[in-house]
Amino acid sequence: MINTNTLTNENIKAVIDRDDKSQLLSVSKWLNILAVTVIFMMFVGALTRLTGSGLSIPEWPLINGSLMYPSSETVWNEVFEIYKQYPQYHIVNKSMSLAEFKVIFFYEYFHRSLTSLVSLFLLISAFFVFKNKKIRKEYKSNIFVMFALLIIQALAGMYMVNSGLEEGMANVSQYRLAIHLVLALIFLSVIVRTSFDIKLKTTKKLSTNFIEGVSKLLLGFCSLLFLQFISGAFVSGTKAGFHFNDWPLMNGSIVPKNLIATEGRYASNILLNFTENIATVQFMHRLLAYIITAYAIWLFFKLKKEKITSFQEKISNTLLVLLSIQIILGISTLIFHVPIVLAAFHQLGAILLFLTSLALLRTFKRNYEKL
Ligand code: HEM
Repeated sequence: MINTNTLTNENIKAVIDRDDKSQLLSVSKWLNILAVTVIFMMFVGALTRLTGSGLSIPEWPLINGSLMYPSSETVWNEVFEIYKQYPQYHIVNKSMSLAEFKVIFFYEYFHRSLTSLVSLFLLISAFFVFKNKKIRKEYKSNIFVMFALLIIQALAGMYMVNSGLEEGMANVSQYRLAIHLVLALIFLSVIVRTSFDIKLKTTKKLSTNFIEGVSKLLLGFCSLLFLQFISGAFVSGTKAGFHFNDWPLMNGSIVPKNLIATEGRYASNILLNFTENIATVQFMHRLLAYIITAYAIWLFFKLKKEKITSFQEKISNTLLVLLSIQIILGISTLIFHVPIVLAAFHQLGAILLFLTSLALLRTFKRNYEKL
């Protein structure tokens, strides 16, 4: 117990700061749990797409009138019949058995259940954060933004699935897939940034050094990675990874034939090459990867010459290691014709790489006054 009579102005401030600090640290802890859950959810999302499971449950939110996982053979047959009414079944899965359907159903059901779990977790935690008067408005508004993003993300998910249920479609639109993936990255980044800022503010040993020039260079690096994320979404959305499976060449040439097509659909809009022509889509993804690698190496040596703290050095070393793994994963995914596990880890690698570069950027962004 603190005897308030003996408190001077100085230690009153210390007590308030300590209270703030412990409150903030608990916010940071639940944000970390939330971040891990969202990363897991994105990983399951990648598996759902890679196993071709995303369109197995055309109805939402109820499935055959219920929220529950099918529990009897009769219900299984009913949900399978629903799936059979949609084009994907007729175009690519006509020979699918009930046992095979159960597998793709499981992935999609699990992905949806995780979304509900994250929403519930965010809702309950936000309730406690909002009730706590010691948590600053700045953090409360960030949580509000997270909610808005989660709702937008769920709507984008439905929008994406609807594109795959339209007549003649066996897969979802690559444009909508890119929107869904990028929104998930933005949602995750807001969570991680908020948590990381709290950590920087409250943990004395995480020392940072504010260097404005470096901050701009890192912003450039994060923007390139963000662009590469969008490019990757188009590679997977157009299934471009199943073509040009040699490396470093593409079907034997540095620049693939038909890189910029000008006939048919492309005659009226040449820019469509960048989102629909698999040669262009994959070429751009490779090219951006090389630019990012060169930029990262240059940045790494530049940082070595700056007065950075050992904490910042650790993050920049991690960044280079993650980038190397990511490039190896990307090339392996390509040359082995997109095996599910490699492709899913390539997506996970992209997420971790982006979050690490965001964290490094934050350490250069401003001077954090420690609590
Ligand atoms: C900075 C490095 C890289 C980043 C950040 C990155 C990021 C991404 C992302 C975010 C995706 C989409 C994943 C998904 O939708 O699940 C993707 C897909 C893909 N990337 Fe990369 N990538 C990088 C380098 C490379 C390299 C060097 C190659 C090969 C030369 C490559 C080949 C692929 C392939 C084949 C896919 C499609 C996989 C699929 O169909 O699921 N990537 N990449």
